[in-house]
Amino acid sequence: MIEFSHVYKNYDKNYILRDLNFTVDKGEFIFITGPSGAGKTTTLKMLTALEKPTHGAVRFLGTELQDLKPREIPFLRRKIGFVFQDFKLLPNRTVFQNVALGLEVSGIFGNIITKNVSEILKAVELYTKKDEFPLSLSGGEQQRTAIARALVQNPQVLLADEPTGNLDEETSGIIIDIIKSFNNKGTTVMLATHDKHLIANMGRARVIDITKS
Ligand SMILES: Nc1ncnc2c1ncn2[C@@H]1O[C@H](COP(=O)(O)OP(=O)(O)OP(=O)(O)O)[C@@H](O)[C@H]1O
Ligand SMILES: [Mg+2]
Repeated sequence: MIEFSHVYKNYDKNYILRDLNFTVDKGEFIFITGPSGAGKTTTLKMLTALEKPTHGAVRFLGTELQDLKPREIPFLRRKIGFVFQDFKLLPNRTVFQNVALGLEVSGIFGNIITKNVSEILKAVELYTKKDEFPLSLSGGEQQRTAIARALVQNPQVLLADEPTGNLDEETSGIIIDIIKSFNNKGTTVMLATHDKHLIANMGRARVIDITKS
């Protein structure tokens, strides 16, 4: 489903990734790991065409992403939900409106928005906070809002960038359980983290260490 083939990435003369190769099958749960600055965020961004490889190919469902035309990129982003390391929630919109935005940009309005947003907010146990603004939420609640926004379009793939980064152990566990429950229902997951405990506690997931690229 996903393939990184001889991917190199540099900013100026500084190579971040050298000859990164891996594939991900539908339904897998994959950790992307490596220390701070190793290129985890850059790797995930290449899958949503927010960054391009300097050399090599990134493929999703057989399509080479660097060949996509700008007008084709929104279709890719409907299939791949991205939970950003810094959430990127809009402070002047409520939880409900932040989650709804992903559907509105796809041209979906009205009752379908209300139904789908309500469903996903219930799934991440945030429905009672739907009319609050992001800054009044805890870190874990903001993270769950970002996850709901990424999942509301029912994407085939969820990319989660350090989703437990600033959270305590219990809240991290809740976030991971939510992500696992969607993985169990068929969503392919790529989760970037430098947290070795998180990886050790997961068991069956595959680990890709990008520092070895
Ligand atoms: N747009 C950019 N321009 C120049 N350098 C960049 C840019 N984006 C990332 N970098 C550099 O690329 C390297 C990898 O960054 P990246 O954010 O992918 O690392 P990371 O593994 O996600 O780190 P962290 O664990 O701290 O989130 C860093 O040294 C960073 O400074
Ligand atoms: Mg990062």
